[in-house]
Amino acid sequence: MAAASASAPSSSRALLALTLSIACLAQLAAGDTNGVYEPCSDAWIQRGDGFSFGVVFAGYNAFFSGNTQLSPCDRRLNLASSAQLAVFRPKVDEISLLTINTTTGFNPASAGGFMVAFAGRKYAARSAPIFVSNTSFTVSSFTLVLEFKKGRLQNLHWKKDGCGACTGKSNFVCLGKQTCAIRTQSCKTQGPVDCSIGIQLAFSGTDRHESVLNSWYEVSNLRQYSLYGLYSNLKDTLSGQFNKFF
Ligand SMILES: *[C@@H]1O[C@H](CO)[C@@H](O)[C@H](O)[C@H]1NC(C)=O
Ligand SMILES: *[C@@H]1O[C@H](CO)[C@@H](O)[C@H](O)[C@H]1NC(C)=O
Repeated sequence: MAAASASAPSSSRALLALTLSIACLAQLAAGDTNGVYEPCSDAWIQRGDGFSFGVVFAGYNAFFSGNTQLSPCDRRLNLASSAQLAVFRPKVDEISLLTINTTTGFNPASAGGFMVAFAGRKYAARSAPIFVSNTSFTVSSFTLVLEFKKGRLQNLHWKKDGCGACTGKSNFVCLGKQTCAIRTQSCKTQGPVDCSIGIQLAFSGTDRHESVLNSWYEVSNLRQYSLYGLYSNLKDTLSGQFNKFF
């Protein structure tokens, strides 16, 4: 288990600076054989490696050119002018909870309200855009599955969590019968709830040695939100919004 966090995402204009600093800081951690730190480059991973990917926040249409959704690494999108970027480097096949603190300046609604997870260039993969926040509703809990085939990223997809955990709770609203959202006016800085974004991560598929990645299987067997209790360092922060309901 691991928890990683990014502070307020930097503007993607700072992508180069950010990724360079990651590369400089990066001493290959024990067991990490992946020397690729830049999310717009191609990695070929094995279990236990670090894997860098990005999450971009922007308006829904900003991810498309015509009717085609492009990789955020594609310069034709021109995300640099408006989008916000967070870069993470979780360990392959470890269940991780990534957090983005939204109480200290970064506002996903003003960044455009949607996010896309992505990595790679020749082997470019990107998730569909997923709704995070507007002036009415904010979704703070996400599950992202990174799917590899022989060590190459094939796909990133958001798993719908369902509304089981939000029925009957006054701050929560069920959107589209499949996503729990919090009323944005309840979120700090307007209200009492820390609506910081938590992204539960899982891996599926196979690594470069064709070893099977199992963490998705573990996550799918755990009940929604039950994982929050496992991240003891976040107990008083992220999980605070759930504690009073369980
Ligand atoms: C906010 O998003 C919700 C869910 O996507 C949508 O139903 C609603 O119309 C949006 N409200 C505004 C003010 O954009
Ligand atoms: C976000 O940052 C604030 C201020 O530093 C802190 O009080 C809060 O616990 C943080 N929330 C999360 C989820 O880390």
